[in-house]
Amino acid sequence: MKKLNRSRRGLIKGATLAATGMALGAGLAPLQTQPATAQTSPQTKAQPQPSSALPLAGKVAFVTGAARGIGRAIAEVFARNGAAVAMLDLADPARLNSSRGYRVSNIDEFNTAVAAVKQYGTGVLQLQVDVRDLAAMQSAAERTHRELGGLDIVVANAGYVAWHSFEDGTPQLWHDVVDVNVHGVFNTAKAAIPFLKQRGGGRIINMASVGGRAGFAGNGAYTATKWAVIGMTKQAAQELGQYNITVNAIAPGAVNTPMYRSEGQMRSMGVSSREEQDALLNPLSPLGNAGAIEPEAIAQTALFLASDAAKTISGTTIDNALGFNASYTA
Ligand SMILES: NC(=O)c1ccc[n+]([C@@H]2O[C@H](COP(=O)([O-])OP(=O)(O)OC[C@H]3O[C@@H](n4cnc5c(N)ncnc54)[C@H](O)[C@@H]3O)[C@@H](O)[C@H]2O)c1
Repeated sequence: MKKLNRSRRGLIKGATLAATGMALGAGLAPLQTQPATAQTSPQTKAQPQPSSALPLAGKVAFVTGAARGIGRAIAEVFARNGAAVAMLDLADPARLNSSRGYRVSNIDEFNTAVAAVKQYGTGVLQLQVDVRDLAAMQSAAERTHRELGGLDIVVANAGYVAWHSFEDGTPQLWHDVVDVNVHGVFNTAKAAIPFLKQRGGGRIINMASVGGRAGFAGNGAYTATKWAVIGMTKQAAQELGQYNITVNAIAPGAVNTPMYRSEGQMRSMGVSSREEQDALLNPLSPLGNAGAIEPEAIAQTALFLASDAAKTISGTTIDNALGFNASYTA
């Protein structure tokens, strides 16, 4: 990036991160224990046998948006650390408007992710479910409890984005993003809470964004929905603490996933390649020329929040954004 004065950098930062979103059914495979047969992400190594010494041994996780990206990484990291995992995803682009340069996962991506998680030898349940459908989510939570033996950790990660200016928004675009990112997070918690209470406690982890920390032009409803996620996190933490349930959120910066690398994202940033994306964002990061964050790093934050080490933390939002968050006040 060329030399920029401070105010110009601020403008680009806003436009860029706005753009980022920052972005700124049900197949069933209960308690699978097959050996490794599927592709893994580069950061992961198979653990042939779950050990009781692992931090999530004996726990059951319920992860939405698990077909790829951050959700898949969380499912892999949780399984590698001993948890059985219910992996939920819509996995059907025909069921969600994808006309703005971003599409949700397809079933092939979902199957590949499930196969990758199965290699860790913990239970895996594949559930093709729409987080917008409360009844379907309640059924998924019940199946998780019945077929994996409980429900301890909920990750409301599924997300959707349509890039447009506030003025150019339409009721349908606005509704779609709110429906997935706000109602979907509510539905996920609502479905799981009865089972967390039965276990005597649990963890809820919501995927917010740096887009939930400030205003970003061009993000459509996304920014508003991620602020809502942080608000829901605080309210639920207030109410659920009495049941030994912690509720926290993660606010990622730009993460190397299909959402951030999508055509719509790049168009909104005024770039046409990953290299240009990274070149635009690198100067905004106190941690230097790191490019986008790998999904594994966000998954490690989720692992911390799910682990015993975080049992006294609730109602907070952890920024994992290469330090970009140091530029805003709240
Ligand atoms: N990638 C980033 O830069 C970034 C930054 C901050 C926050 N986030 C958030 O992280 C979360 C994961 O995003 P990602 O980057 O991994 O994107 P992604 O597109 O790779 O994954 C999103 C997943 O959610 C699924 N999904 C969408 N709508 C759904 C629905 N109605 N029901 C069930 N599943 C649905 C998609 O099929 C997809 O598999 C999202 O909430 C996103 O807003 C991403």
